[in-house]
Amino acid sequence: MAKKLFVKTYGCQMNAYDSARMADLLAPQGYGVAAAAEEADMVILNTCHIREKAAEKVYSELGRLRALKQNRRATGHDLVIAVAGCVAQAEGEEVRRRAPWVDLVVGPQAFHRLPELLAGVRTGAGAAIDTDFPAAAKFDHLPEEAGGRGPSVFLTVQEGCDKFCSFCVVPYTRGAEYSRPVADVTAEAERLLAGGCREITLLGQNVNAYHGAGPDGPDGRPWGLASLIRHLAGLEGLSRLRYTTSHPLDMEAELIAAHAEVPALMPYLHLPVQSGSDAVLAAMGRRHRAEDYLRLVERLRAARPDLAISGDFIVGFPGESDADFAATITLVREVGYASAYSFKYSARPGTPAADLEGQLPEALKIARLAELQNLLDAQQLAFNRSCEGRRLEVLLERPGRQPGQLVGRSPYMQAVHLPAPSQLLGKVVNVTIERGMANSLAARLADPHDELGADAA
Ligand code: SAH
Ligand code: SF4
Ligand code: F3S
Repeated sequence: MAKKLFVKTYGCQMNAYDSARMADLLAPQGYGVAAAAEEADMVILNTCHIREKAAEKVYSELGRLRALKQNRRATGHDLVIAVAGCVAQAEGEEVRRRAPWVDLVVGPQAFHRLPELLAGVRTGAGAAIDTDFPAAAKFDHLPEEAGGRGPSVFLTVQEGCDKFCSFCVVPYTRGAEYSRPVADVTAEAERLLAGGCREITLLGQNVNAYHGAGPDGPDGRPWGLASLIRHLAGLEGLSRLRYTTSHPLDMEAELIAAHAEVPALMPYLHLPVQSGSDAVLAAMGRRHRAEDYLRLVERLRAARPDLAISGDFIVGFPGESDADFAATITLVREVGYASAYSFKYSARPGTPAADLEGQLPEALKIARLAELQNLLDAQQLAFNRSCEGRRLEVLLERPGRQPGQLVGRSPYMQAVHLPAPSQLLGKVVNVTIERGMANSLAARLADPHDELGADAA
């Protein structure tokens, strides 16, 4: 009988990409996809270590899986439990100690070895840990990705980070920056497009630092992200390109120009700033001032006036004063975000900021986060309302919650739902926005004549 695999994904889009690749790896071992842990023979938790809460979630899920495994064993079956991702990398031994029922622990750069590790579990060799590092090896050992990923797909082009922001675990869990060669990325993009995808989001922890080997082989000049984007934009079948996440320091002139010149590059940019205070930015090791970020946003908007900007913020960083926090609020007002993510600072073991003096009380962090989120929510709602009455192109990605409804994304990353026949799934259509709400837009199909035109896009 066919076995089933359930992968539960935490954290960022890079984990989502890795989860899909893990399923590709285990398919030849006879594993189909299960909809829930209860139906699976193997469960992989693909974990995130970015904040304490994210990491703790994993241990509570492991508690639940232990009970499931015990029930399974009582009926003469088994459940293989694997922990992958950034918690595995950062605290693999701790996982084994706190959850000895885990069968294997595999880091983000070593998951191409899952089949081998699994074979070891089957022969009763005992629990396996593999948290080896170089990212290059992984990409060379992954099988071709299976089709059927849907109209909008992620494609990891860069991994790891050399920035070492003082609060962040990523350089430790994902290792040094590595960029995949242009030829590999192109081949993967072509296969995804042949499988019916229309939109590709290029992923990297620091994606705009991309510098992959050019197509002339290892001796060729490396390409920056702008060149990669221009190249991919010419592939047959591609309608839309996006990339995430970018660091303000690596936003080069050529990449800004691509926003003006490449029609497939969508007018949305996730550009985290973290704080509007120069003192906090310096303590975070971000290596730019608030003013630099504001000038950068100006240059981007000069290139693409309708660019929707999104960001990440941390409130309650050690030593953050009322004035520092007020500077963040001022920056947010100046930029006007279309969407944003904001977090309370979480001290991460092993990062420099965890040892700084001036750690702030939880109540203060909660209050600042609420104030910032109120402002960001209001900006997002205002942006969504400003779209009312506009005609926008939407890539229809999946059925909506109501019967007869499809859901997709606008060029600006907004979720859009509208009544539409299911034949339009996977197509880019013209819609008219009827209502802008807090987290989505309601729309109707524009003139049917436009629909045909958009489909050819
Ligand atoms: N590479 C991206 C960020 C990856 S982590 C970048 O450089 O912007 C995603 C977001 O999590 C970060 O932008 C930051 O806002 C938040 N984050 C990271 N470490 C954190 C910590 N210790 N506490 C709270 N939020 C954190
Ligand atoms: Fe973390 Fe900074 Fe690297 Fe982003 S740039 S992944 S916040 S260290
Ligand atoms: Fe989390 Fe690792 Fe991504 S820590 S945010 S899953 S890189």
